[in-house]
Amino acid sequence: MKSLPRLGVNIDHIATVRNARGGEHPDPVAGAYAAIKAGADGITAHLREDRRHMRDDDMSRLQKLCESENIPLNMEMAATDEMLAIALDLKPKAVCIVPERREERTTEGGLDVAAGHNHITPIVRTLTEAGSRVSLFIEAVEPQIRAAVSTGAAVVEFHTGAYAHALDDGKSDVADAYLETFRTSAKLADELGLEVHFGHGLTFDNVAAIAAIPQTMELNIGHFLIGEAIFMGLHDAINVMRQLSSDARTV
Ligand code: PXP
Repeated sequence: MKSLPRLGVNIDHIATVRNARGGEHPDPVAGAYAAIKAGADGITAHLREDRRHMRDDDMSRLQKLCESENIPLNMEMAATDEMLAIALDLKPKAVCIVPERREERTTEGGLDVAAGHNHITPIVRTLTEAGSRVSLFIEAVEPQIRAAVSTGAAVVEFHTGAYAHALDDGKSDVADAYLETFRTSAKLADELGLEVHFGHGLTFDNVAAIAAIPQTMELNIGHFLIGEAIFMGLHDAINVMRQLSSDARTV
């Protein structure tokens, strides 16, 4: 039996490297297969509006792979009509709705579910009825958690980017304050019936405190794992991450 929290491996940046040369290598689907063989509990991929990393054909090949390996594909997408149509066609096991701005380097900040409630709720409903488990990528604050509940989403993923940046900048007091908020928010979300995931900017150095939160069911990690694979290989990078997160949960 696999241990908690589950590790979703985000393979977007294998596609980033491929796209740097415009060819087919390295193939993110081959990367997903290697991640699954290394022990990933799920594969996560973000089909962005500008297709800067994953492409439409990558998503359909990933879905086929994940189906045949009996591993969930978690499609990250913006709340747009185009992405909704693609997700309905693809039928991934999981969908994570994220905010998206063309000019951003990565997903900056959480989805404003409180403000976008009327737009997001029907998308959550349609995807859920089509058989995908829907997650909302939000900041760990009470109004967003309560708004997420009211959309009918099954899962929230709390954005850990600012926590990770605070540690990078040596601001451990700021990071500790984020951790305290994560603990309170995870408890609240769980009490309100939401499954709790975390993601963004997680590394070997900052993952343990997040994994140790009792309600953490899943971590979605990409950039660090793909970068670290250059030095230690994807298999070992995934294994070290799994070990660090499951150890954090058992001590
Ligand atoms: N979770 C969500 C919702 C994301 O948008 C991203 C980045 O695509 C991640 C997790 C993974 O973040 P990172 O690549 O920094 O590990």
